[in-house]
Amino acid sequence: MFSLLPTLVFLTSWLASVLTCADTSDLVPLWRAYNGGVVDHFYTTNVTEMESALTQDGYSLEGSSAYVWTTQETGTTPLYRLFNQDKNDHFYTMSNDEIAEMLSAGWAYDTTPIAGYVYPFSICGAAPIYRMFNPTAVDHFYTMDIAEGEAASGYVNQGIAGYAVLPSVDGSAVVSSPTPYLLPSTVTASSASEATTSSCATTGDAIPLLRAYSSIGTDHFYTTNSSEMSNAVAVDAYTFEGDATFLWATQETNTVPLYRMFNQNVHRPLLHHRCQRSKRRL
Ligand SMILES: *[C@@H]1O[C@H](CO)[C@@H](O)[C@H](O)[C@H]1NC(C)=O
Ligand SMILES: *[C@@H]1O[C@H](CO)[C@@H](O)[C@H](O)[C@H]1NC(C)=O
Repeated sequence: MFSLLPTLVFLTSWLASVLTCADTSDLVPLWRAYNGGVVDHFYTTNVTEMESALTQDGYSLEGSSAYVWTTQETGTTPLYRLFNQDKNDHFYTMSNDEIAEMLSAGWAYDTTPIAGYVYPFSICGAAPIYRMFNPTAVDHFYTMDIAEGEAASGYVNQGIAGYAVLPSVDGSAVVSSPTPYLLPSTVTASSASEATTSSCATTGDAIPLLRAYSSIGTDHFYTTNSSEMSNAVAVDAYTFEGDATFLWATQETNTVPLYRMFNQNVHRPLLHHRCQRSKRRL
């Protein structure tokens, strides 16, 4: 009986740390501006810097692109800012691997090397910031509106730059997204992880593994099936928590099945899937 206590204490503190979110009242807008002359999208939380880009450098304000933190809070990670002077391109990433690659390709840390702090995963209601790239003009364009990104002519989807809080039409932060964010089938991984060989699965086929949590049943639930996720939220009182990861719906090169099981006795029977062999592959 008492020997169980350390485990329970550990589990409780682990759950508490997993469920802690950054303070949404500290969020600030990440302003977006565009310069069609040099073809560059520029993002900053610094209003003074944005004003000088507008008045001196030929940029036009395009509003707030996302809400981010200016200091590192629980669960957040730096969104680094790099600049390529020859190509006139601002580049933002949270990937250290990518920074090394971009530094060797002509980009350097910008005057402000950190644009803000974002979540590395879709947690706490945060949604993806998509990164688009125009290889002809050499411009990286970031948007949380996938429809806008997909409509941008000459740009290809390079994946996710980070997870932030959505901007809304009236300028107030939308702190959680009510619907799952599904990536289009054309999505590709970041350039750093794009070095595919014949032994890699096709990244373009990867789809989001959606995550939800039920505090009533104390259960985390994951599925790639958005209808099933909608049911879990609508019928079984789960709260949608975003994309947990990306995986394949069918078995591709070097992938193995990720099985799914359910214990009806430990968790309240909110869902009716038990010991069901999943078709998902990882
Ligand atoms: C904001 O930008 C101005 C002008 O570039 C700069 O002088 C100032 O240090 C920046 N403030 C912060 C907090 O980075
Ligand atoms: C997705 O979930 C719905 C509702 O649970 C189910 O009817 C459907 O068969 C599922 N689709 C796939 C491809 O598993």
